Amino acid sequence: MQTVNELIQRMTVEEKAALMAGVDFWKTNSIPRLSIPSIYMTDGPCGLRKQGEKADHLGLNNSEQTTSFPTGVTLAASWNRDNIRKMGAAIAKECHHFGVNLLLGPAVNIKRNPKCGRNFEYFSEDPYLSGILGSAFVEGVQNEGIGVSLKHFAVNNNENYRFMGDSVLDERALREIYLRAFERIVKNTKPVTVMSAYNKINGVFCSENHRLLTEILREEWGFDGAVISDWGAVSDRVDGIKAGMDLEMPGDCEYFRKSIIDTVHSGELPISALDQSVSNILKLIQRTHDIQYGLAYDREEHHNLSGEIAADSAVLMKNDGILPLDSSQNYAVIGELFEKMRFQGAGSSLINPSKLTSPKTAFDQRGIRYDYASGYRESEFESEPEYVNSAMAKAQSADVVLFFAGQTDYTESEGYDRESMTLPDNQLALLRKLVQLNKKIVLVLFGGSPVELPFEDEVHAILNMYLPGQAGGEAAAQLLFGEKNPSGKLAETWMKSYTDVPFGEQFVQQKSELYKESIYVGYRYYDFLLGEGVRYPFGHGLSYTQFAYESLQVQQDSETFIVTCEISNTGQMEGGEIIQVYVANPTSDVFKPTKELRAFGKVYLKPGEKKQVKMSFTLSDLAYYHVDRKEWVVENGDYQVLIAASATDIRLSASLSITSQPDIASPYSREQLKHYFSPHLLSQVSMEEFEVLLGRKVTRSSNKESTKYTLDSRLDELRESFIGNLFYTFVIGIGKKQFNRSQKMPEGPERDMQRKNGMFLMKMMPNNSIRSMSVSSTGRFGYHIAAGLIDLLNGQIMQGIKRMLRKERLSPLPKDQK
Ligand code: BGC
Repeated sequence: MQTVNELIQRMTVEEKAALMAGVDFWKTNSIPRLSIPSIYMTDGPCGLRKQGEKADHLGLNNSEQTTSFPTGVTLAASWNRDNIRKMGAAIAKECHHFGVNLLLGPAVNIKRNPKCGRNFEYFSEDPYLSGILGSAFVEGVQNEGIGVSLKHFAVNNNENYRFMGDSVLDERALREIYLRAFERIVKNTKPVTVMSAYNKINGVFCSENHRLLTEILREEWGFDGAVISDWGAVSDRVDGIKAGMDLEMPGDCEYFRKSIIDTVHSGELPISALDQSVSNILKLIQRTHDIQYGLAYDREEHHNLSGEIAADSAVLMKNDGILPLDSSQNYAVIGELFEKMRFQGAGSSLINPSKLTSPKTAFDQRGIRYDYASGYRESEFESEPEYVNSAMAKAQSADVVLFFAGQTDYTESEGYDRESMTLPDNQLALLRKLVQLNKKIVLVLFGGSPVELPFEDEVHAILNMYLPGQAGGEAAAQLLFGEKNPSGKLAETWMKSYTDVPFGEQFVQQKSELYKESIYVGYRYYDFLLGEGVRYPFGHGLSYTQFAYESLQVQQDSETFIVTCEISNTGQMEGGEIIQVYVANPTSDVFKPTKELRAFGKVYLKPGEKKQVKMSFTLSDLAYYHVDRKEWVVENGDYQVLIAASATDIRLSASLSITSQPDIASPYSREQLKHYFSPHLLSQVSMEEFEVLLGRKVTRSSNKESTKYTLDSRLDELRESFIGNLFYTFVIGIGKKQFNRSQKMPEGPERDMQRKNGMFLMKMMPNNSIRSMSVSSTGRFGYHIAAGLIDLLNGQIMQGIKRMLRKERLSPLPKDQK
């Protein structure tokens, strides 16, 4: 290929406009005249999803068989960067094999609220942990010559309003919580692309947000790759280019292509801005086009790697000593997830696994003796007496009951948020009955985010497998029977009840999502709830052995603090321990969490073995973002280095005094922000106090802008108009029909698929906007039809019809030109 500048000089405006968008859902446009190849990109963060002819970004159509690895939430619980790097490298090999140049992951959004439907894909509530693990993922993939797309940039923390929602937050929360992981990953690992999210931040869509995409990402952090849009995230194409949004995906939107050409000709879009984006995309193609198509890889090896990571990630949340189990005994096994293991989440990251080992398969392979009854169907919500009765009978005659439970694809998915934090009703009701039998109960949990565990006192052990990938059943069996020792720790807080979540009742109630809690996300807030406590704190996880912590030392080497301590295995079994380094903040005139995670390590020890663990953080890691000075500031003061087994289990501490920094006045007033200085009263933050923190009045995006419908109206808002209601009913009807069809089908994989897809469409479609539907339809639902439809809804019938008939006239794409 010629140099980027040479190519730009030879390209016509039409060719440049074509290069600025995707084609056929997953590819960039090729320009044969200039030998510019197209590159192929696809999901995602927990394995490769390479679809065939029928493409979609919702996980509806099937894809090639590849390895399903544990999802983000599971990986994060391993706190194991080496494993994540290995997994990234394995996925990259599969990319080579299937001809994929760019992998759409990792997804590093912060878990702000446990109901976010996509938490299963994200790592943690903590930006440091997310940043470190995300970096490992990027290194793993990119070191093998495949590009990544770091997503979803940024503050994309709910699904119900993901296409039109506005995340309203203060600058400090933005910098310290929501951008921090992205910043670390961009600076440390140079991802070749960043994916701009669907939502707005403080009123401006991410895909046309100059401050986010140019000032912060490129100018401050030094990003030199290409920004690509999430699928259907572009609102105003020309504003997007001016803001630094390069590649529109999935593309094929003629209206946008024409708007680029027209505005270049009219002078509204400077050619230099277009050339900058074209140059970013050409560089991306040059960086990623050279792959080893067809490269051989060992499927079994990847399956085993997936299982090893799953075993290293599972979290033993409770154990009164009943685990590990004796493999020669007889057990009652209840719960359909035993045979139909939930191993991945739903949506764009859905994998068609190359092999699947359920717990049932793994038990059978070991010759474990058990009496099994499903007790509930994972595809239903209500209890069904015949299933319950047979489960109760099996449980009656056993000493130990293994209950397999968890969230299902019907309660948790990309595309919509969870309705509640409870287990499905049919599972909960059955568990309530089981505990009354006074048997020993071991709960094996699956799912992508915390659930309320009101029965916690009544069960004897809880092994949380999260979403363990295709070999998860093998991992569960290894851990239950003590072939391996659990060593995962939670990368998120498990609160007792959803009512403990700050401003939880206001979550996804309107388009403007107010981040009133500011920096108090996860343990940064729950640390102040110590009195009432949480169910399981951030960083919690048990083992079948015990670890002793000693000999903490903190040494300073210029701007780096090196923390060492000795960990010994004082129990009977080999095992791994995650050591967390928090630094407690000094009291000052700046409101802050009590402590923040600054480093961590993981060691594996034989019984009696002792190892020194070395971890480090830098002075700049201790900084807070000063909103007036617009810079990171380290405060002088007395800090504490805490070595901990979880956020509430501090084992060693040392003081750390910082005196070398300039004294800089706090930007905050205690009087005006009193609840931020007393976070145990955070729920009392009023709109006025939040506005003081923001430094401006909140202008809310109303649920229906003025009295008119817009392209950004949510589909369920359209129901108020006659035509809108027809459209809504038609769209939702597709899912409903599919779901109803499944009711009449015999049990089996076909029924499950119809049912899941039907339910998915019914729950997800109301959250769409006409714009997102059109822009992600690769031309099938033309922009002119979408815009005309809005006119019709607003009573402008003639204008609407005219618009619908007026299709853009454009020259064919370069690949189609003779
Ligand atoms: C998701 C992205 C995904 C893309 C392509 C979108 O709906 O938000 O995470 O990469 O689809 O499948």
